[in-house]
Amino acid sequence: MTFTIDLGGKSAVVTGGGQGVGRAICLSLAAAGARVIVNDYVPDRATLVAKEIEELGGAALASPFDVSDYAAATKAIGAEKVDILVNNAGNAGPPTLEAAPPGGRGPSVSLGEFTNTEPADWDRYFAVNLYGVMNCTRAALPHMIAAGDGRIITIVSDAGRVGEPHMAPYAAAKAGAAGFTRAIAREVGRDGITVNNVALGTVDTIGLEDMARESPELAERVRRQLKRYIVPRLGQPDDVAGLITFLASPAASWITGQTYPVNGGYSVNM
Ligand SMILES: NC(=O)c1ccc[n+]([C@@H]2O[C@H](COP(=O)([O-])OP(=O)(O)OC[C@H]3O[C@@H](n4cnc5c(N)ncnc54)[C@H](O)[C@@H]3O)[C@@H](O)[C@H]2O)c1
Repeated sequence: MTFTIDLGGKSAVVTGGGQGVGRAICLSLAAAGARVIVNDYVPDRATLVAKEIEELGGAALASPFDVSDYAAATKAIGAEKVDILVNNAGNAGPPTLEAAPPGGRGPSVSLGEFTNTEPADWDRYFAVNLYGVMNCTRAALPHMIAAGDGRIITIVSDAGRVGEPHMAPYAAAKAGAAGFTRAIAREVGRDGITVNNVALGTVDTIGLEDMARESPELAERVRRQLKRYIVPRLGQPDDVAGLITFLASPAASWITGQTYPVNGGYSVNM
């Protein structure tokens, strides 16, 4: 018996697809046959991943824009026939372009004690993790409703499910995105559109485990973190991409309004 996911003829937008988890999702959707529109705030990142897909024989287009810019998201996504939207862009939003080489880190999701922060510090988390999701979903839905078919998958975080100290604004924005997508799932189910969340534990997108080999302090932090995981390793981007590709497929047409953890067992669902 074989099992194949065939996304031939489908177009997928992946936000923040220029590196890390987003890049793995782009490659996986393309391998399943989708044409992938690779979004990233950093144009070079989007271009490199689109090129990588084409070199592997897939179809891709780089689409650089900032998801927190409603007009830009509407213009870019509105110009495409979008069957699949993966809201992946997140964390603390875009770095400045000067500080954003392909593979570089963005600003930290950790802000320290909440009582030491002010509303101006919170904005960037809501801009990308909540408004970015709302903007792109708003832009993609009219196509999907007209087609009577669609898939929306939003990457959230266990920080927004279980809570994580020093990350309150990030956790709040991710929990907001999860609530938003549940509401949208109820609005568009009868249009053949499914809407789900995937909540991640720590995924080693920045070479954390490699860095820990050189820093005893970081190694200790990673060791403490892994003690909380049933499968005691950090996640890898490919651990996420398979579930996203399945949820994007026709095989997942009766799955909607859900939040799936991909987290090595850091938290468990009933
Ligand atoms: N890596 C983890 O441990 C982890 C854990 C939980 C959730 N997540 C979530 O998974 C998703 C991917 O994380 P990652 O670790 O691969 O992140 P990453 O920072 O390595 O990559 C994110 C990409 O998104 C782009 N981006 C950021 N803001 C953007 C914006 N406003 N518009 C367009 N592009 C933008 C960045 O340029 C970057 O290329 C994020 O939503 C993140 O919050 C990650």
